[in-house]
Amino acid sequence: MPQMLEIEQLKKSHANTPEILLFRDVDAAAAQHDRIALLGSSGQGKSTLLRILSLLDIADEGVIRFAGLSSKQADPIQWRMKICYVAQQAVMLPGSVEDNLKITHELHHIPYNVTLVKKLLTQSGLESLDLSKKASELSGGEKQRISLIRALLLRPQMLLLDEITASLDQCNAMRVEDMLEEWHQQEGTGMIWVTHQLEQAARISDYVWFMGNRTLLEKSPTRQFFEQPATELARQYLQQPLVKGDELCLS
Ligand SMILES: Nc1ncnc2c1ncn2[C@@H]1O[C@H](COP(=O)(O)OP(=O)(O)OP(=O)(O)O)[C@@H](O)[C@H]1O
Ligand SMILES: [Mg+2]
Repeated sequence: MPQMLEIEQLKKSHANTPEILLFRDVDAAAAQHDRIALLGSSGQGKSTLLRILSLLDIADEGVIRFAGLSSKQADPIQWRMKICYVAQQAVMLPGSVEDNLKITHELHHIPYNVTLVKKLLTQSGLESLDLSKKASELSGGEKQRISLIRALLLRPQMLLLDEITASLDQCNAMRVEDMLEEWHQQEGTGMIWVTHQLEQAARISDYVWFMGNRTLLEKSPTRQFFEQPATELARQYLQQPLVKGDELCLS
């Protein structure tokens, strides 16, 4: 399978203290339909890496290519339509929920598909949400799902998902996982998904990228990562106590 996303020798220092290294020597590649769980302890730079991949932040060194095109040659807006970041803290634009959902249509002239919007709202547990409500008045979990649906409407080739179920109860988190599973099967969209829930990582990915020791320390098929991590650091990471959502999943 040809590689869709190629990352070579990325290096990034802390935003406010450039003398402190965040990560270096990050090499990785993802094929078009790969689903990757990006794991690692807090502060390793997972969000920063996703933001760099969507050209919302700049690496100090290194190369990113998507479908053969270097990010240095790309128009950032065109790039972000193909490789789209869904933030840990969802950002709503001014106006109603519906205004937020229609923004893809307004900015990029992509037809507004009401049937698809309704389907995605229902699948993510938002079927009774009043779309005329001010987006700023939504709960954190509602904002996360609206921002995810807004990204899906762009039909990107790759989704960069940053803890997108972190504000959701387990039931709605599972709905979102199922929605993305169906989307992946139907659209073939690649996904790099940051999560701190190991059970979720195991469910939603084919590969794991594990960040540690200031680099991308392991890149393995998911099963192999969980059963036979290659490094002591990953072994320790996998021994972390399960978070609440995971416990519920195991029952
Ligand atoms: N805009 C910023 N300005 C200054 N420092 C930042 C900024 N964004 C991130 N950092 C710092 O860079 C480091 C990595 O942050 P990042 O958010 O990428 O980590 P993370 O692996 O996503 O962590 P978490 O799992 O807690 O979300 C942290 O020390 C953070 O404080
Ligand atoms: Mg983060």
